[in-house]
Amino acid sequence: YTTFNLLSNDKDIVYDDEQEGLNDQIIIKFSYVVAENTPKALTAQKFAELAQEKTNGRVKVEVFPNGILYSDEEEIEAIKNGNVQMIAPASSKVTSIFPELNLLDLPFAFPTYESIDEALTGEIGKSLLKATNTDRLIGFSLWNNGFKQVTSNRGSLTQPEDFQGQYFRVMPGDVIEKQFDLLNVQTSQIPFNLTYLNLENGTITGQENTLSNIYSKKFYEVQDHMTISNHGLLSYVVLMNKDFWNGLPQDIQKSLNEAMEEATDWNLQNALTMNKNALEKIKKKSDIHIHELTREEKESWMKELNPVYEQFEPVIGKELLSKLQSLRK
Ligand code: LMR
Repeated sequence: YTTFNLLSNDKDIVYDDEQEGLNDQIIIKFSYVVAENTPKALTAQKFAELAQEKTNGRVKVEVFPNGILYSDEEEIEAIKNGNVQMIAPASSKVTSIFPELNLLDLPFAFPTYESIDEALTGEIGKSLLKATNTDRLIGFSLWNNGFKQVTSNRGSLTQPEDFQGQYFRVMPGDVIEKQFDLLNVQTSQIPFNLTYLNLENGTITGQENTLSNIYSKKFYEVQDHMTISNHGLLSYVVLMNKDFWNGLPQDIQKSLNEAMEEATDWNLQNALTMNKNALEKIKKKSDIHIHELTREEKESWMKELNPVYEQFEPVIGKELLSKLQSLRK
């Protein structure tokens, strides 16, 4: 036998040279906080299927949804320590480590769905992924969920003034904090899976998230108003533990790269529909009051939030920002 130390602090994987091929399965633990029926979870499952198929079963990706292994902050520690091999946090949640990722949270940055795909898979995405390569982590891919909406149980949110005095749950993120500062909203970075409870008991008055998250975590049950604002993007950075990756045989790495490419394509093709379906289900299941932001309202939100761009220019860099601006043309 030869032993091949893939997971420094987890377990050794033993290759049995006397039998044909490599018999022992390589296990990849993939943890995330969202529910099963969401763009991230379904893409992770797709990746798991493709990884198994392309490696003839030598790789098994075990997925752990709903934060059952780790909550938002814990999963970032867990991947650094090699306790899980993959996570796909909201890009905003790792902006303290990778400040360039703030670009993805800029308000009203993506004028169309096509521009999201272009940003995530084109030059911008490549630069961002490069920035997430560290001594412990590899940025594997960028996935999309969709545009965020806002909900509240303290009146409808149509004008920037309506935010005044609200108390919002937010996911961690530098741009997100600044955005709500400008709107005079108090914020709390409550873990995703505690959001429902805090909305229900009134500790907070509102939150922002995508329709698939609002639906799958039932936030609509404990909120009176929702504005379809599409004001910000929720994207994910898929991260892999670097020691683990470097210990994988080259043919396995190749197959996993292919699996990730296909899974990412699938994600970009399906995320929009999943969010549309979530909206229909919310409408069916609840009487939450839904308002679609008008063009004039959107303009006043943009005006209010515009200072974020200037503030983050030194953090994100002029070059990336001008690439982002070119998506508008
Ligand atoms: C949140 O914390 O609201 C989101 O980042 C959850 C997710 O991963 O979509």
